[in-house]
Amino acid sequence: MMPRRDRRKGLLAAAAAVITALVLLAAVVSDLNVRGQLQGPRVAVLQPGPQQDPALVARGRELSLIGHCAACHTAPGGPAYAGGHAVQTPFGTVYGGNLTPDVQTGLGQWTSQDFWQALHNGQSRDGRWLNPAFPYENFSHIRREDSDALFAYLQSLPSVQQSTPAHSLRFPANTQLGLALWRALYFRPQEPPTSAQMDLGEYLGRGLAHCSACHASRNALGAQSATHDFSGQLLPGGRAYAPPLPPLGHADAGAWTVEDMVAYLKTGHSRHGAALGVMAQVVTGSTQHVDASALQALSSWILQQPAPAARLATAQAAAPSVPESSAVMVLGERLYTEHCAACHGEHGQGVAGMYPALAGNPRVARDPATNLIRIIQEGGFGPATAGHPRPFGMPPFGHVLQPHEVAAVATFIRRQWNGAGLSEVTPLQVIKPR
Ligand code: HEC
Ligand code: HEC
Ligand code: HEC
Repeated sequence: MMPRRDRRKGLLAAAAAVITALVLLAAVVSDLNVRGQLQGPRVAVLQPGPQQDPALVARGRELSLIGHCAACHTAPGGPAYAGGHAVQTPFGTVYGGNLTPDVQTGLGQWTSQDFWQALHNGQSRDGRWLNPAFPYENFSHIRREDSDALFAYLQSLPSVQQSTPAHSLRFPANTQLGLALWRALYFRPQEPPTSAQMDLGEYLGRGLAHCSACHASRNALGAQSATHDFSGQLLPGGRAYAPPLPPLGHADAGAWTVEDMVAYLKTGHSRHGAALGVMAQVVTGSTQHVDASALQALSSWILQQPAPAARLATAQAAAPSVPESSAVMVLGERLYTEHCAACHGEHGQGVAGMYPALAGNPRVARDPATNLIRIIQEGGFGPATAGHPRPFGMPPFGHVLQPHEVAAVATFIRRQWNGAGLSEVTPLQVIKPR
């Protein structure tokens, strides 16, 4: 006879197998449904080259800037849209492919229908499920006519023959079965909205501009929360935290207004500070090119979103704090006076228009302190944009300060000017961001 433990194990394994089979069946059925709806007759291939409707191409170009397609589909220093950019995920690295009309390595043989399948349903021309690092959870909201305009634009680009490196993903993210399961659990193609149903701001924020791809929380399997709430997440790699939206205002500036957000997205700078790090890239490559009325719609929609629960929890977490007289605070104060006060002021008050105040600054107070640590180590450079061509930068201190010193100065500026209850930034957080 089987010992009891083995029997239980056997039963568990059988139950798991049944559940997996059911989930897979659900996946296959739902995808068949979707494909049935979507496939229909093949739409005529848009001819690459000058025959294309210039207005459609121009519209597609605008949309590609809002969608920031080039960011993930251009290798560093490589030709635009020819693929090869490495996108980090918690499960490994995937590469955005070649979107130019090259027949062998790009979208040369694609129809606008194939393209729509990819954006709307996360499925490649050959039927392969695509990795959700390609933000089709968001792009699924895109309307068909916008997809067609994007396709027309991409087909108008010069062909570049360049193969894309193979993804390097861990099991099971590297299998089609794994992706099918993931889709069954978390992905439903969206009903693309009619203009009356969804306002422009929501259409951009949830859809094409994919703000929630970074600012929404994700679960352990990398799916965005179903509600796309903007409750913030630590991005893969652990060096950047996309904070909750709507953002908290600087104490001196009050709450963010629509004008503040438009300025931030258009120029990279606002009364509440500059867009730094990854967000500087979003501004440079995408939002600065978007016209002001669209940014206005996006901004007012974002500012209307409910304050995420995560933020309230942070504000209430009165973690046991560092006593003012502790060695860490003494060290932090000394380092601040030596390295930072010349720009940010003796009392962290900053210099208007040049050096941000560190007192009453929600970015300094934020938990996790990921971005604060990174800014001290790597420096802070707001983007140079047409609207703000010559920003002041902050020098990096990573080679000047030891990790325990970075931690001490960060703890000091939090504790001294942003709330006695704020937690200590530890040297371990500096060494191991995750
Ligand atoms: C955050 C990064 C990211 C952004 C932004 C992004 N993509 Fe991608 N895209 C990817 C990755 C990664 C893949 C590859 C997925 C895979 O192979 O499983 C991909 C795949 C695709 C594919 C399928 C290619 C194929 O061979 O199957 C198309 C089409 C595509 N993207 C178009 C776009 C368009 C159009 C935009 C802008 C509206 C865009 N992408 C923006 C990362 C991105
Ligand atoms: C690729 C990831 C990514 C995308 C996409 C993205 N953001 Fe961000 N965003 C970040 C990060 C990271 C930060 C924090 C930057 C820093 O270090 O100061 C940030 C900061 C911000 C802030 C400032 C928040 C604060 O509390 O100071 C605003 C506002 C913002 N983003 C709005 C947007 C909007 C609107 C979109 C869509 C158009 C968007 N973001 C898309 C990553 C992203
Ligand atoms: C040479 C002047 C200079 C020095 C020295 C300097 N900073 Fe900065 N710092 C800046 C500027 C300029 C910015 C804003 C960057 C931007 O907005 O483009 C900034 C931004 C910051 C921010 C981000 C604030 C925000 O609202 O996003 C923090 C935090 C910060 N500095 C902390 C420090 C600390 C800690 C030190 C000392 C270790 C220091 N700085 C030294 C000039 C300086």
